[in-house]
Amino acid sequence: MANKAIYPGTFDPLTNGHINIIQRAAELFDTVVVAVARSAGKSPLFDSQERLDMTKNAFATQATIEVVFFDGLLVDLAKKQGAKIIVRGIRSIADFEYESQMAGMNRQMMPGLETVFLKTDAEWGDVSSTLVRDIARYGGSIGQFVPAEIEKIILNKLS
Ligand code: COA
Repeated sequence: MANKAIYPGTFDPLTNGHINIIQRAAELFDTVVVAVARSAGKSPLFDSQERLDMTKNAFATQATIEVVFFDGLLVDLAKKQGAKIIVRGIRSIADFEYESQMAGMNRQMMPGLETVFLKTDAEWGDVSSTLVRDIARYGGSIGQFVPAEIEKIILNKLS
């Protein structure tokens, strides 16, 4: 059975930190499904379609990376996709506490589902989508945190 892993997130916007995790996951698994969550509770700057489009474009040339939208439980997406692996990036102990709780709850809802944690490379260890949005909003440079295409999209949105 081919190994399929899901990497879920809000991606508001997709950052180099996320891309780092996705590319590393693509080395480990046959297929990586990047799952863009609605995350209505977070009131994202970019709507679902915009986040889906920017994420799809970032991986358009990589056949083993698929990008999908989901609205609902992650375990339901995993069942629909026939995937038993969730990938999450860990930047810090604080991430681990939250992630370990989610991994545990997901496994209670779907026994057999494994969450694999990849340590975020130090270069991206402090990056978050919120901080990138904030820096851009106040005129700071975000070019080192997101791909050039996404930088343009963010600057357009905020102009
Ligand atoms: N590099 C850079 N930033 C990273 C990162 C990395 N490697 N890993 C995480 N982040 C940042 C994100 O940018 C995000 O920043 P923000 O809060 O400023 O937006 C933050 O860390 C956490 O975001 P993310 O990893 O994308 O998770 P999330 O909280 O947006 O998404 C879901 C969480 C969507 C996976 C989770 O809510 C979910 O599964 N929802 C579906 C409903 C469900 O099943 N709920 C029950 C779960 S038990």
